[in-house]
Amino acid sequence: MTTDSPQNISTAEQEHADLCRQLHHHNQLYHGLDKPEISDAEYDQLMQRLLQLEKTFPQLASDDSPSQRVGSTPLDSFTSVNHASPMLSLENAFGADDLRDFDARLKRFLARDEEIEYLCEMKLDGVAVALTYESGQLVRGATRGDGSRGEEITQNVRTIGAIPLRLQNNFPQQLEVRGEIYMELAAFRKLNEQRREEGETTFANPRNVTAGSLRQLDSKLTASRPLTISCYGIGAISDNEPQSHSELLEILQNWGLKVNLDTFKVATNIEAVIERYEELLGLRDQLPFEIDGMVVKVNSRELQQELGEKSRTPRWAIACKFPPRQEQTVLESVRYQVGRTGAITPVANLRPVNVSGVTVSSASLHNWDEIERLGIRIGDTVIVERAGDVIPDIVKVIREQRSGGEQEIPEPTECPACGSPVSREEDEVVPRCQGLSCPAQLKESLKHFCARGAMDIEGLGDRIIDQLLRLELVKSVADLYRLQKEQLFEFERMGDKLAEKLLTAIDASKQRPLERFLFGLGIRHVGSHTAKLLSRQFGSLDALSAAGQEQLLSIHEIGPQVAESVTRFFADSNNQQILAQLQQLGVAPIATEQPRGDKLQGKVFVFTGALEKFSRKDGAALVEAQGGRASGSVSKKTDYVVAGPGAGSKLAKAEQLGISVLDEEQFLVLVDKEGDNA
Ligand code: IVH
Repeated sequence: MTTDSPQNISTAEQEHADLCRQLHHHNQLYHGLDKPEISDAEYDQLMQRLLQLEKTFPQLASDDSPSQRVGSTPLDSFTSVNHASPMLSLENAFGADDLRDFDARLKRFLARDEEIEYLCEMKLDGVAVALTYESGQLVRGATRGDGSRGEEITQNVRTIGAIPLRLQNNFPQQLEVRGEIYMELAAFRKLNEQRREEGETTFANPRNVTAGSLRQLDSKLTASRPLTISCYGIGAISDNEPQSHSELLEILQNWGLKVNLDTFKVATNIEAVIERYEELLGLRDQLPFEIDGMVVKVNSRELQQELGEKSRTPRWAIACKFPPRQEQTVLESVRYQVGRTGAITPVANLRPVNVSGVTVSSASLHNWDEIERLGIRIGDTVIVERAGDVIPDIVKVIREQRSGGEQEIPEPTECPACGSPVSREEDEVVPRCQGLSCPAQLKESLKHFCARGAMDIEGLGDRIIDQLLRLELVKSVADLYRLQKEQLFEFERMGDKLAEKLLTAIDASKQRPLERFLFGLGIRHVGSHTAKLLSRQFGSLDALSAAGQEQLLSIHEIGPQVAESVTRFFADSNNQQILAQLQQLGVAPIATEQPRGDKLQGKVFVFTGALEKFSRKDGAALVEAQGGRASGSVSKKTDYVVAGPGAGSKLAKAEQLGISVLDEEQFLVLVDKEGDNA
């Protein structure tokens, strides 16, 4: 691959076509087959080259170019579109009795005694979409809307890697395929974790963030969200009419569409459907995504046609819902948490309640948009749900139960920690404390600086930081490196040995990699990934602090928000002072360009159990450093399962599928980290 622009359009055209072919191919390997052959970095490199070519020769950028994956020019508004055939919804069933009634109803309608064959599908909790393909090209994506008219979200769906821009094999000339766009739980948790790291507010659950991401006018934002799809049906098709629904799904997959085929099960009669429902109920907590029930469909397409539909729902399908992991309780009060960037998050104090085995006594209210959306007041009876995130969520207020004494949730006017004034910018959903020496912010910043992915100062946790602040020994991160042993003796439960250990750990952190140091500084919008990009690009703190916005923006994946935040951070004289002090105190972060191996090229690893020798994150990094990939769930595509003590269902599944299982030691040997502190 050349990196300079070719001089004439015909060589550019050739290179462009070649890049498109490669990117389509690798995208399909990654999303369609879960078997990538190149690393993310190599994929990015190809994409960079494509973007560069299209910038020089805009006539090369077509609607099905892989460059569409990164998003395009923002829209002013969405257009509404008619669905070729209505997007129906489903009637609900709630258990075995309802399912037997459904079966009996169909047999009556068809005047038939023979058993009906059904297809059991998982009911994914996401957002329904219709994708239109003409001559194999994705030409339109639309939301369900009211069933007959939806919103056109073509630019946004084009950014979703799992949605092919072109169909393959023997595809029909005209196809409208339907499916559910969703976010896997691991991706959702990672996204929230990143947002926490970057000082942003978190999302309530995978469905909300999916819906929100698809509703973006700027498709670049959608591109940054890890969405995926599972296709479950069609609206219209020009030829290739299959016999059964299960066959249809296989054909869709063959055309390159993503269908979660291994989650579908054919049942020869309604009792087998009920068995599957019960099985799914048990599997629910172990799945990599949220489901809220099972969809049962008559498998024969001929019978489907005979059964037809009522006004809004088909007769041939039903959704059998799961009991929600929800309970009712009361919002007793609201407390406010101050984050490292001064963001003030409202947290609900709930009357403790048991939600499917877990006692819930608090829930994040996220932000004031969420408070407004729920219309929630202190004293309200609410429904709490455990879903997606580890932190439970308030999903609904039961207004009928209001007594009249409920109170609005006030937006704080001063910081609960330091009393400084707070203010909320127009485009923000939470107020921020403006106090320069707010102890809550300082505490969170220190915690962040010392934490694992940052300077990793062992022993410098919550308890020690509290005491450092109480005795006013530390006013900035630089003060950590000025601490003397005698000062530590004033702490509770602090002996000579422990003090020594702490100071050694602080000293050892002086030579951390630049990326970790940058991450530890807690610059807004700079999470661990961005810190890595910056470190790789600039190589030293001096070079980064001298960089202008223009220079930052030229880096792929760095947008205006990050660029502005970084330049603002380094322009601040207070920050400059602290950085200079750190340097004087011997903190000398070093840029480490990690050499990438290819020993594990394309191999998929799953970590499970309580790992003792390294964290899951470090394990994944080791795999990635050798060209492999870590995944959250075991499937046929998994190559290795690394199991720590107490591994359960994933280990069992690996054994069942005959996948190689490694213990931690064996894994470290495999990645050449034997004896190292990985
Ligand atoms: S079939 C005519 N299958 O559930 C068939 N729907 O009200 C219509 N959903 O809006 C839908 N997983 O968003 C079908 N495997 C699945 C599904 C599924 C999730 C959603 C879909 C639909 C709602 C049903």
